Amino acid sequence: MFGRSKNLVGLDIGSSVVKAVELRPSGRGYRVAAFGMQPVPPDSIVDGAVIDAGAVADAIRRVFEENRSFKTKDVCASLSGNAVIVKKITLPVMTASELDDSIAWEAEQYIPFDIQDVNLDYQILDPGTGPDSRGSMDVLLVAAKKEKIGDYTAVIAQAGRTPVVVDVDAFALQNAYEANYGLDAREVVVLLNAGASAININILQGEQSVFTRDISMGGNAYTEAVQKELDLPFDAAEEIKKGIPVDGATFEEARPVLHAVTENVLLEIQKTFDFFKATASSDRIDRIMLSGGASRVDGFREMLQDRFGVTVEDFNPFRTVAWDPKKLGAEAADVAATAAVAVGLALRRVGDR
Ligand SMILES: Nc1ncnc2c1ncn2[C@@H]1O[C@H](COP(=O)(O)OP(=O)(O)OP(=O)(O)O)[C@@H](O)[C@H]1O
Ligand SMILES: [Mg+2]
Repeated sequence: MFGRSKNLVGLDIGSSVVKAVELRPSGRGYRVAAFGMQPVPPDSIVDGAVIDAGAVADAIRRVFEENRSFKTKDVCASLSGNAVIVKKITLPVMTASELDDSIAWEAEQYIPFDIQDVNLDYQILDPGTGPDSRGSMDVLLVAAKKEKIGDYTAVIAQAGRTPVVVDVDAFALQNAYEANYGLDAREVVVLLNAGASAININILQGEQSVFTRDISMGGNAYTEAVQKELDLPFDAAEEIKKGIPVDGATFEEARPVLHAVTENVLLEIQKTFDFFKATASSDRIDRIMLSGGASRVDGFREMLQDRFGVTVEDFNPFRTVAWDPKKLGAEAADVAATAAVAVGLALRRVGDR
């Protein structure tokens, strides 16, 4: 309590927007001490790869320059998409230290990259020591390409910040969900974060992540379709997609284009759910929690609800994490959709893996 603060800034480097959140303990939970976001120029990050490091570093720098309330330089960032592989694997029961010694060797069979090129992490899901164990244990394996980690830590350093922890979008989301909603052992909850270039899906069964997948489709697909169908420049298409009036087209013209893209997105989500149901012990889904800027597209939530017949709720990362609109200069509701990953990252502590 009196020692050095082990606080980290949660820094979500999205392909369209950089978000940063700093939390401070408050009562039995947390409050947001600082929040900032800045746009990233289109095509600076493509498929999770940093293409224009200067532009991304600039966006990060601006977040901290425009908001002086951030107190720590240490940040927790995240990767997603094809930079990371998450797999549940089954191994013979062994002790924690045996697992630690053999994980790289075991992982080699499941990871389609050279094991030298990745950072490995894992979590024991089921130690296999229970009464119904059949001599095997379940382990969640996470492999991130060193090259991608290097790209992200480099832009963070270039922006004058210190990268301390590198997490995964889907797990940051889970972290934020746990902190705000708690976990119900009986429930199957889908966390769905629709960003500009990807949709991260993390399916939780009770306390565990049982399935993750990143679909490489998101808000950009909507903007591109509107650009093409209504013959608009990128910026106008971005605006009209959000319901902001522009010259040269009406929202009524854009709506069917948006819905057609959502149909394609739903097909991908359907495939993901089918795959989950075929491989998991449960084929039930109780709830979908929506986040990400693109989840605000006209009709998205309703179409999702109609298609899958489950309750779809907006994920509020400020449900228990206190947000003071007077201090922060914005309403929680206006940034909630886009801030979920950053809140999850800000909840990490130095020394976390
Ligand atoms: N009100 C809105 N209606 C429709 N789309 C929106 C709205 N607000 C934001 N978006 C879209 O959401 C996307 C940005 O969301 P978000 O910040 O979650 O993405 P990101 O984290 O930058 O992307 P990614 O994680 O895919 O790299 C953009 O495509 C933006 O156009
Ligand atoms: Mg994102």
